[in-house]
Amino acid sequence: MRYRKLGRWGVQVSEIGLGSWLTYGGTVEEDTAVACLHRAYELGVNFFDTANVYERGRSEEVVGRAIADLPRDDLVLATKVYGPMSPPDRPWPNDRGLSRKHVTEQCEASLRRLGTDRIDLYQCHRYDTATPLEETCRAMDDLVRAGKVVYWGVSEWSADQIAHAIDLCRTRGWAEPVSNQPQYSALWRDPEERVLPTCGEHGLGNVVWSPLAMGILTGKYRSVDDVPPDSRAAGDHATLMRRYFTQEVLDAVAQARELAEEAGVPLTHLALRWTLRRPEVSSAIVGATRVGHVDDNVAAGDLDVDRDVLERFDAALAAVAAS
Ligand SMILES: NC(=O)c1ccc[n+]([C@@H]2O[C@H](COP(=O)([O-])OP(=O)(O)OC[C@H]3O[C@@H](n4cnc5c(N)ncnc54)[C@H](OP(=O)(O)O)[C@@H]3O)[C@@H](O)[C@H]2O)c1
Repeated sequence: MRYRKLGRWGVQVSEIGLGSWLTYGGTVEEDTAVACLHRAYELGVNFFDTANVYERGRSEEVVGRAIADLPRDDLVLATKVYGPMSPPDRPWPNDRGLSRKHVTEQCEASLRRLGTDRIDLYQCHRYDTATPLEETCRAMDDLVRAGKVVYWGVSEWSADQIAHAIDLCRTRGWAEPVSNQPQYSALWRDPEERVLPTCGEHGLGNVVWSPLAMGILTGKYRSVDDVPPDSRAAGDHATLMRRYFTQEVLDAVAQARELAEEAGVPLTHLALRWTLRRPEVSSAIVGATRVGHVDDNVAAGDLDVDRDVLERFDAALAAVAAS
């Protein structure tokens, strides 16, 4: 496994990270979840991502139980705050967002669920237009100074929002965000235009989500009418894949698979290396519903792929990618 600095900061994360959205505490049985996390660690993954809102805290609890057996200092443990945490039938006004109250309380709740005394990377899951940026940045600075949070970051913030937060923190002498977590894959290129360059300019690393486009870039879906029964596209979360799940996309992926075969590189590895070709990307956070996925995906962490192969892969999917 290779490791990269989180932007300009000293901490290093594995090029392949492991996330728990929809899976751990959700669709995947706990013993399999624990086995996936342990296998990833054995193979050198140190970056583990979750969020308070994933299965309303259950993901964090499963991740917490899984890492209880692992040496804590080896891990870069990331979670997030922003999404609503009270029961859907009884929403409370302060159960979400990035107010000082919610961020502070959820930090404590995440620490409890994760069974740890600090969060290595605490991320603002979305931008909160209802809370002054100063309030959030200062609350994060306080958590850093209190030792509960080691670094803080953002997710799906626009380039301008990121630049504004950096400017504010530098002016006030507060701990600044060190990372951004955008969706980024060969089928979702939106961050390329402004977000990645802005992060590069200000020294933030990017830990990118759904680098396999939720499994589509593994090549396991050949036709929209023939979906493997045990896959995400066949389950309750299929609607989340709607943007990509068209025959036009699957046909383009089939072309990419052919060129991957010619080059002797598995398509999955090519898709992950494609995200990591950008210097602004520190880690590609994959999901895994079985240990075999971890083995497969982590193997991309040690791979060198010729530039022309990456360029041909890029070209095969450019026309169907969202940007
Ligand atoms: N910040 C945010 O807003 C945000 C949003 C979403 C996700 N995330 C983070 O990003 C992480 C990854 O997202 P993701 O799960 O969508 O990533 P992904 O790696 O693009 O997709 C993962 C899914 O693809 C399938 N898969 C993965 N590897 C495979 C392999 N080698 N062979 C065959 N199928 C494979 C599995 O689903 P099936 O087996 O079910 O088909 C797996 O759960 C999340 O866990 C979370 O930590 C963040």
